[in-house]
Amino acid sequence: LDNGLALTPPMGWLAWERYRCIVDCVAYPDDCISEQLFRRTADLLVSEGYADVGYEYVIIDDCWLALERDSDGRLQPDPQRFPSGIKALADYVHSRGLKFGIYEDFGTYTCAGYPGVVGHMQTDAQTFADWEVDYVKLDGCWSKPEDMDTGYPLFGQYLNQTGRPMVYSCSWPVYQEFAGIEPDFESLKENCNLWRNYVDIDDSWEEVEIIMDYFAERQDRIADHAGPGHWNDPDMLIIGNYGLSYDQSKVQMAIWAILAAPLLISTELRDIKPEYKAILQNKDILAVNQDALGIQGHRINSSAGIEIWTRPISPLLGDKYSYAVAFVSHRIDGYPYLISVNLAEIGLTSAQGYNFQDLYDPESPPEILKPDSILSIRVNPSGVVFYRATIITAL
Ligand code: DGJ
Repeated sequence: LDNGLALTPPMGWLAWERYRCIVDCVAYPDDCISEQLFRRTADLLVSEGYADVGYEYVIIDDCWLALERDSDGRLQPDPQRFPSGIKALADYVHSRGLKFGIYEDFGTYTCAGYPGVVGHMQTDAQTFADWEVDYVKLDGCWSKPEDMDTGYPLFGQYLNQTGRPMVYSCSWPVYQEFAGIEPDFESLKENCNLWRNYVDIDDSWEEVEIIMDYFAERQDRIADHAGPGHWNDPDMLIIGNYGLSYDQSKVQMAIWAILAAPLLISTELRDIKPEYKAILQNKDILAVNQDALGIQGHRINSSAGIEIWTRPISPLLGDKYSYAVAFVSHRIDGYPYLISVNLAEIGLTSAQGYNFQDLYDPESPPEILKPDSILSIRVNPSGVVFYRATIITAL
């Protein structure tokens, strides 16, 4: 969507994967979907250094609404959990130098049963603008997938008509995918800044593998549609929660960087362990994710449980790119697995060679490798070795 926003993949925090639809603030005061949760998270994004490295959107997901609209037909938040109102919460987030995102649904109800936008699109778009929302995620429950080709663009037009720039995150491909309808990617690119392609991420390695496989198996169909202002979205980062080991967390971060994916953290920032925080704040990996060319990477090889993924990044030399290169292991035999690859075979063909830097070991000396060089590395089980291969431009 050409609205000047999301020229690199959006970065921020999104409540759903970790906090779901917890609405009982008496039993779970720290975990319920409430204004405290989002204020606290905004504070932590700033105080814990996430804002400094680029995470900027604080985004509410489902379950913020009251069950009924107000007497004027406008959306209103749950009065117990958001007593100060959404505008005040947006103001708070803005006062921290961050941006504020909200969730709605294209259908009659949200997935959790709160009022959807159907029949009220123009009013709701204006309400979001009045509240100074910066980012809107529009889900697709309780609606017909065949209506989405016209309905999602229409809501986008209403957002646009408000005159307030808002990132527009669409869920229409995932609902069409499951209804057996081929999503119209040209229309997605024109109407949305990002779109969810596939299933909701849950907190497990299996889920990360399923999503990686989907993006790899469909890459010829989906990858080229990504670019500045319009991104494929493999869903939230679950790093820092219960389900991923340290090595598995490194895999998610590396592959989301290769995929030019939005980086929306969904974890509790108060008590995240330092090594997981370091993964989320790895500046070299964030630089790959945010590379200005905005080219989505591909899985270029998969055998014996080892995958090789590459993403073309800047700088270029003539028509040849630098690359991010990830070696991912899905092996379950429990020891670091040795692999050797020839650079030309994985597409790194610039005669002057590349400066290889291990992005998870920034202190390690960079190595200069040529197209006929053999790279030999060991990859941990359900782990990754992740390089930036910067093209050598000077003789
Ligand atoms: C389905 C979406 O895909 C999830 O990301 C989340 O927004 C839930 N709905 C909320 O009900």
